[in-house]
Amino acid sequence: MGIQRERGALLDLITGAAEAGAAIIRAGASRLGTIDWQSKGPGDFVSEVDLRTEEAILARLRPALPGVTVLAEESASSVGAEARRGRCVVIDPLDGTTNFLHGFPEYAVSIGVLEDGAPVAAVVLHVPRDERFTATLGGGAFVGDRPCHVSTITDPQRALIGTGFPFKDPHDIPPYQLQMSRVMAGVSGVRRPGAASLDLASVAAGRFDAFWETRLSPWDFAAGMLLVTEAGGLVSTVDGDPLDPTQPSSVLAGNPVLHPWLRERLYDPLHSPAPVVPPPA
Ligand code: IPD
Ligand code: CA
Ligand code: CA
Repeated sequence: MGIQRERGALLDLITGAAEAGAAIIRAGASRLGTIDWQSKGPGDFVSEVDLRTEEAILARLRPALPGVTVLAEESASSVGAEARRGRCVVIDPLDGTTNFLHGFPEYAVSIGVLEDGAPVAAVVLHVPRDERFTATLGGGAFVGDRPCHVSTITDPQRALIGTGFPFKDPHDIPPYQLQMSRVMAGVSGVRRPGAASLDLASVAAGRFDAFWETRLSPWDFAAGMLLVTEAGGLVSTVDGDPLDPTQPSSVLAGNPVLHPWLRERLYDPLHSPAPVVPPPA
């Protein structure tokens, strides 16, 4: 089988698994008040729906990909160097759990496949909108059956920027506020929808011109980063280093003009101390 056909078959497989997961999430959305959910840490929740969705995805993928390394948020969240060798499937069964639990219609299933540490196939399903974002390495990015491309906006003052707020460690907030004020001062608008995989899909589809978040896990961005690059965009850490989808990382994505612009905007606040707030007079 040619390499593109092999990646196409892989994409069909992960898309089927993501659809099976989405069916569980949809059923859960219809009985929201009865769902059991627990805290994993500050602002970080897991529900029975996250767990059952991940089980359903793995039940499809494990027999089809025997021996594959799995990096999955709820059941296999830490793997060693083997994630960078051979094939690794990276799964976020429900990205945007907080949105889901509140009936805020912005959440997704995200599955990426890595080969030797680099994404080769990706699917992100926007569950409430039933919108499918897919990509294969060298095969382009798609929304449904239509090819998609990053935006052509080059003037920051016309740009719409996506972001994610820091919530796990309060020490992340002051430097982030500095970043936010510098970005807000230079663009048309900033949005925080609350599901990183969909934020990256929005960059790929040209809806956001760029996106940044300072602390994400591999399952939040392994699929989305391939959507962006296959749509003609750039991805990196916020510092501009190569993005490693096997490690927690900051993420910066955008079209080829707005990516470097945003990197420049974010650079100074990250490396300067937090502002001293004067005491009340
Ligand atoms: C979260 C979402 C959110 C981002 C968080 C992620 P989860 O994923 O992607 O947008 O800001 O950092 O943890 O926990 O809903 O799968
Ligand atoms: Ca997530
Ligand atoms: Ca999740």
